[in-house]
Amino acid sequence: MSNSAKISLDTNRIISEISPYLFGGFAEHMGRCVYEGIYDPDSPLADDQGFRTDVMDALKEQQYTIMRYPGGNFLSGYNWLDGVGPKEQRPRRRDLAWQSIETNQFGTDEFMEFCRRLGCEPMMAANLGTGTIENASALVEYCNAPQGTKYADLRAEYGHADPYGVKYWCLGNEMDGPWQIGHLEMDEYARKAREAAKMMRWQDPSIKLISCGSSNNKMPTYPEWDRVTLETCWELVDYHSIHYYAGNWDEDSTSYLALAVELEDYVDTVAATLRYAKAKRRSKHDVFLSWDEWQVWYKDRGGRGGWTEAPHLCEEIYNLEDALVVGQWLNVFLRKSDVVKVACVAQIVNIISWLQTKKDGLLVQPSFYPFKLVSNLARGNALDLYTSAPMIETPKYGGVAALDVSASHDPESGNGAVFIVNRSQSDTITTEVDWQGDVPGSVKEVWQLAGSDLKMVNSWENPNNLVAKPVNGVTIRDGKMTLQVPPLSFTAVSVG
Ligand code: AHR
Repeated sequence: MSNSAKISLDTNRIISEISPYLFGGFAEHMGRCVYEGIYDPDSPLADDQGFRTDVMDALKEQQYTIMRYPGGNFLSGYNWLDGVGPKEQRPRRRDLAWQSIETNQFGTDEFMEFCRRLGCEPMMAANLGTGTIENASALVEYCNAPQGTKYADLRAEYGHADPYGVKYWCLGNEMDGPWQIGHLEMDEYARKAREAAKMMRWQDPSIKLISCGSSNNKMPTYPEWDRVTLETCWELVDYHSIHYYAGNWDEDSTSYLALAVELEDYVDTVAATLRYAKAKRRSKHDVFLSWDEWQVWYKDRGGRGGWTEAPHLCEEIYNLEDALVVGQWLNVFLRKSDVVKVACVAQIVNIISWLQTKKDGLLVQPSFYPFKLVSNLARGNALDLYTSAPMIETPKYGGVAALDVSASHDPESGNGAVFIVNRSQSDTITTEVDWQGDVPGSVKEVWQLAGSDLKMVNSWENPNNLVAKPVNGVTIRDGKMTLQVPPLSFTAVSVG
């Protein structure tokens, strides 16, 4: 194959402004995400309130903007009242979703403190499995109402006089899945979500509501579930969720490395359903997508905790090819930024995560770096690019360009960024980036995550086997920049 490519970008050719909430996370009471991840009073690395300072620092480096909580499948059997009030009075419960013991030592108020320290928006979820619409509405009151009524006063009694003003609220979790506690048929969910939405909004008209979409694009009810939910709830919701977990199930790395094709198709289908529902409702209101669970997850799918506290569940080991899938996913968020406005990686630590803790240490896995680079650098507008690159034949998706690319430009600061995944397993691609419109003055930094073996990982013994490294000497001349893009790599270029 020819070893050269060209990326043309015009700062006036804009897909959309990039929503800051594309760089969100998800923290569920599952395995060791909350306990031993975020919160671990027994760790020498915990502060006086039990928060793991090393985890907090790593999360800050990743610049999370929004955090979804408390689940996940856990949510659908959870009574939020168990997780507030004096810690010694909180009940120990059997969590049926993950067959674990929930101590309730971390709950809504601790989560709000966690978000405050991280500097991100909380995104709460209301239980629509075992939970009633009244229970959902009471939680909004607890979080957002001024003192003077039952649940707002309870919050004050527990030490939090001022309302938290939680803006983002999920109406249940994966309610289309037979695995979900209190799973509902589509018309049942649509009606329950609509009625919960009404009560929650009457508690606080300023909140943004997110309806549950299909759990993935393989569900038998997809995309009919989405149509029915959207048609029923349209005027009451602001976002509709999609979830997807990726995996190289068939050991077909060529197709796996082209996963962006499937991710884009998924977005396009649900986006078309949004347009259909809007037209059918003759509405002027818009609903956007909240991709509030996304991640690679296929090596450790076991979800049974054996009725223990903080069991080691789903502690996925991520390799280079997984990191390149994450890089493409972030590219898809930018390329589809006109419709995807919220995205939350599932999850932020230990469970299905690129961060893993032991009592006195933290392991950073390779896919940490693409997320960090994109969340730190992508600002302003996502650009509509023209990329001409060698083609790769894939068993699942046919011919796919070797380079998967996205770019941003911030008209206010004049800064821009380009993100490139090279899917080729053998070829370095000499890539020319050609700016039209505003030409940046210089290259500020270039970072590359690259390796010779798809299955390369980091481990406690060898934690820096695969890390993003700076590339020096890249310059812009006459609006053009030439870059060597190694095989199996993720490159982030920042300009300004
Ligand atoms: O993130 C792990 C689980 O995956 C969540 O609890 C659930 O929503 C999804 O099926």
